[in-house]
Amino acid sequence: MKAVITSTAKYLPESILSNRDLENILDTNDEWIRTRTGIRERRILKDPEKATSYLCTEVAQQILEKRGISAAEIDLIIVATMTPDMIFPSTACLVQKDIQAMNAWAFDLSGACSGFLYALNTGAQFITAGTHKKVLVIGGEKMSAIMDYTDRSTSVLFGDGAAGVLLEPGKDDSHGLIDARLYSDGRGGDNLCMPGGGSLRPTTHETVDRKLHYLQQDGRQVFKSAVVGMADVAAEVMNRNHLTSEDIDFLIPHQANHRIIQATAERMGIDMEKVAINIDRYGNTSAATIPICIAELDEEGKLQTGNNLILVSFGAGYTWGGIYLNWL
Ligand code: ACO
Repeated sequence: MKAVITSTAKYLPESILSNRDLENILDTNDEWIRTRTGIRERRILKDPEKATSYLCTEVAQQILEKRGISAAEIDLIIVATMTPDMIFPSTACLVQKDIQAMNAWAFDLSGACSGFLYALNTGAQFITAGTHKKVLVIGGEKMSAIMDYTDRSTSVLFGDGAAGVLLEPGKDDSHGLIDARLYSDGRGGDNLCMPGGGSLRPTTHETVDRKLHYLQQDGRQVFKSAVVGMADVAAEVMNRNHLTSEDIDFLIPHQANHRIIQATAERMGIDMEKVAINIDRYGNTSAATIPICIAELDEEGKLQTGNNLILVSFGAGYTWGGIYLNWL
């Protein structure tokens, strides 16, 4: 039994932070950001009283409404995030409370920018096993909460947002999640991390003075690994499933850098018209980029029954992977 996506939704906060806005607070410029990354603007959740669970709850409520089901029918909620409201309780439990999904169990999954693919494959296992009928898989991030807005090398890259899908058992084996190749390499951990606030360096005046509560990245190193990792896994998923570029209707890549996306598409021999891109409008929303792309394509009515979708990601950990989906 395969897991199929029966509903999608996204939620982006209204407030826009454009490249021009960043020019006013940082030594940067619109041209550098656009040509090096493809980003024009990103969304920011400004309300200090709201965090990732708020974004994810908005998504969950829309999914329930669109599918016409009650929260009581949900068996499991998985939230992929690296910016949970708190280290504990999990953001997934906060979403469960907010939507009143009292028959569900709920947990967070920490896979950074690959979190949604990890969570999608994890959720699908419970459907395939036949033990769960309705699994909510959401990727959500308030990246602005871990940005150092005096550091031009990181703060221009990220934005806030959330999106998700509902997984249910398919009626036959032809549609749904067909294949997944997921990888990790912890040796890349130091190149992209938030060093403070965990059990290694609990928050103190010193960790705050040293800005260890912000995301830190060696952009050049991550870039090199991401180009190879995303392109390799995309090619692997195509080969394993005997797919040519003509067979693929949409490539849905993680949105970290337009140049990484282009390199992946070139390696796959896929026309850029088949590639989902919204990095220009939202920047890198980490675990949310791929489900935001899926929800946008769905809202625009572009996803047809039988379409072949390849999802690929690369992120902190390192974590990376590719998923082959046949749309219901
Ligand atoms: N504005 C203007 N100049 C800048 C800016 C900026 N915002 N940021 C950096 N620069 C400068 C640098 O200081 C450097 O100047 P120098 O040559 O005088 O030292 C120059 O621009 C080039 O810097 P690089 O870091 O080499 O720039 P690069 O072309 O590598 O682009 C970037 C940087 C965009 C971060 C790129 O390396 C990248 O996309 N890396 C991968 C990101 C990624 O995929 N992350 C994984 C997913 S995220 C996750 O998991 C959370």
